[in-house]
Amino acid sequence: MTTQQHKIGSGFGPHSTTDDVLAGIDLSGRLAVVTGGSSGLGLATTRALAGAGAHVLVPARRPTAAQEAVAGIDNVEVEELDLADLDSVRSFAERFLASRRHIDLLINNAGIMAAPEARVGPGWESQFAVNHLGHYALVNRLWPAIQAGGARVVSVSSNGHQLSGIRWDDVHFTRGYDKWQAYGQAKTANALFATHLDALGRTAGVRAFSLHPGTIKTALGRHMSPQELADLTVTIDNSPTNSGWKTPEQGAATQVWAATSPRLTGIGGLYCEDCDIAEPAAPGAVLGGGVSAWATDPVQAARLWELSADLTGLDAFAGSVRAHRVDRSPPGRSLPRGDAEHVRGGSQPDSDRPDQP
Ligand SMILES: NC(=O)c1ccc[n+]([C@@H]2O[C@H](COP(=O)([O-])OP(=O)(O)OC[C@H]3O[C@@H](n4cnc5c(N)ncnc54)[C@H](OP(=O)(O)O)[C@@H]3O)[C@@H](O)[C@H]2O)c1
Repeated sequence: MTTQQHKIGSGFGPHSTTDDVLAGIDLSGRLAVVTGGSSGLGLATTRALAGAGAHVLVPARRPTAAQEAVAGIDNVEVEELDLADLDSVRSFAERFLASRRHIDLLINNAGIMAAPEARVGPGWESQFAVNHLGHYALVNRLWPAIQAGGARVVSVSSNGHQLSGIRWDDVHFTRGYDKWQAYGQAKTANALFATHLDALGRTAGVRAFSLHPGTIKTALGRHMSPQELADLTVTIDNSPTNSGWKTPEQGAATQVWAATSPRLTGIGGLYCEDCDIAEPAAPGAVLGGGVSAWATDPVQAARLWELSADLTGLDAFAGSVRAHRVDRSPPGRSLPRGDAEHVRGGSQPDSDRPDQP
């Protein structure tokens, strides 16, 4: 756990909105890319950044529907991108790089939650593939434009990361699927991705953050039955650690703050919530506040980067990334069973538990 993983007294909180965190910030002339920027938190983010003067590019897997969703917001363009398809990621990145523009803000916001078991590409578990690998490939493909802009890169994680660390011995759930563990693993991957991208990118002036937006009613529950949604609502309503439902503008505020706040200049690799840096999670936290140690561990972050490079065949830092390798396991090799299975109630090593010093 990095020693910087503590609140900085941002002056904002759980009820702050995108308007609040952007007050006094002029994004004129800045280019922001917001994946999933036509729905839910992404749409609120697009609207807020464009309202502050940015030009916003929304990559979307359903461009016609996305175009309709952002109609009426000035300075927004939509391009086709399916994060489940690495050819689509390549094609999008090639088109973008050909435009010779640089990126100032990249918000990796698109995601799926609790999806039924599905395989993507060569058999990858779909939540890990869409939420993590698609964004991993996108950032590595877009790296020349990200570097040129000295961009802030923000990964939208979730307190769902507390459901599961990276299952190093079975990342793709080949031995039985659990949709919530798969979501938890994917959201841990979002946070670890920011940790390592920040380590790799900071010498180029690129800083990265991850975050939990809060609990917001959006289309994210599309894979859940009405009964499951009702049960989850009751669980959230009765949770002593939940700070209540947020509006989309309150939910999007943390990612907008992480992407634009001058208070974050010179730091990075941190997980945020409620428009501030988050504290380490309480021991045994599940869907509570703070960040689990397994989601900001630099050793696991480097290992996930290496695994992702092996799976996608992409690594914009090839050469420099090897200098950051901590785990010397052969690329792509699964560890022996039980070596590092980070699942709540699983065989997580004590040294990685959030309650350890
Ligand atoms: N809502 C919450 O309470 C909550 C809590 C914690 C974290 N989050 C995180 O917040 C982020 C935004 O979620 P949301 O609540 O705003 O949900 P949402 O309204 O369902 O938005 C998700 C967006 O991701 C896009 N997307 C899904 N699969 C994609 C793919 N293969 N390629 C490209 N785009 C894809 C969706 O596009 P389509 O419209 O085409 O499906 C949609 O625009 C997610 O990462 C989620 O995990 C949300």
